[in-house]
Amino acid sequence: MEEQKDKLKEHTYDGIEEYDNPLPGWWSFIFLISFVFSIFYFYYYHISPVSTSVAQGYDNDVSEDLKRRFSEIGELTADEETILKYMNEPKWLVAGESTFKAQCISCHGPRGEGMIGPNLTDDHYIHVNKLSDLARVINEGAANGAMPAWKHRLHPNEVVLMASYLANMRGKNIKGVRGPEGNEIPPWPTK
Ligand code: HEC
Repeated sequence: MEEQKDKLKEHTYDGIEEYDNPLPGWWSFIFLISFVFSIFYFYYYHISPVSTSVAQGYDNDVSEDLKRRFSEIGELTADEETILKYMNEPKWLVAGESTFKAQCISCHGPRGEGMIGPNLTDDHYIHVNKLSDLARVINEGAANGAMPAWKHRLHPNEVVLMASYLANMRGKNIKGVRGPEGNEIPPWPTK
């Protein structure tokens, strides 16, 4: 075997000796390059206005996705006719349901049976008399924000489709922790 030519350092600790091997040039070079790169990288992603941060990128993707999903129906108007129409469109009700599950069940319960907010499955409502009131309450909120306003947080179509989903919830009469609140209102129109 070839004899080790590397220089030994002069010290010995408990009989252990050390070679004097500096880091190889290529290794130091890569280290230095990655260090310099990291400065530009940090500046570009976290400070520079030309790049998009991960959070911004996510928001952009979400709004792109909404546009793509809703391209088929355009932007819906939150009126009685539209809400009524989508009450019979299972494909789109799924979108209303998923928004409800994501945003509302912490207060209204997983099935709308009511917890912090009122039961949405009975015939009693505090702020609702007609279908379009559902969308209005979602958009504007109620009781000084105890029911938050959603118009800046949701796409208008999400609000309409959720109103249709809620309208269908009525009459399921799922028992929750709260009794009926508000007044019993007339049935939704059928056509
Ligand atoms: C932070 C808790 C909270 C969240 C989250 C919440 N709500 Fe509410 N909601 C309430 C409260 C409280 C009321 C009752 C306000 C009142 O007493 O005047 C209410 C009332 C309502 C009403 C009117 C009910 C009636 O009897 O007139 C509707 C419809 C409604 N919420 C839908 C939703 C939808 C849809 C979402 C999700 C986008 C949602 N809420 C999210 C707390 C909440």
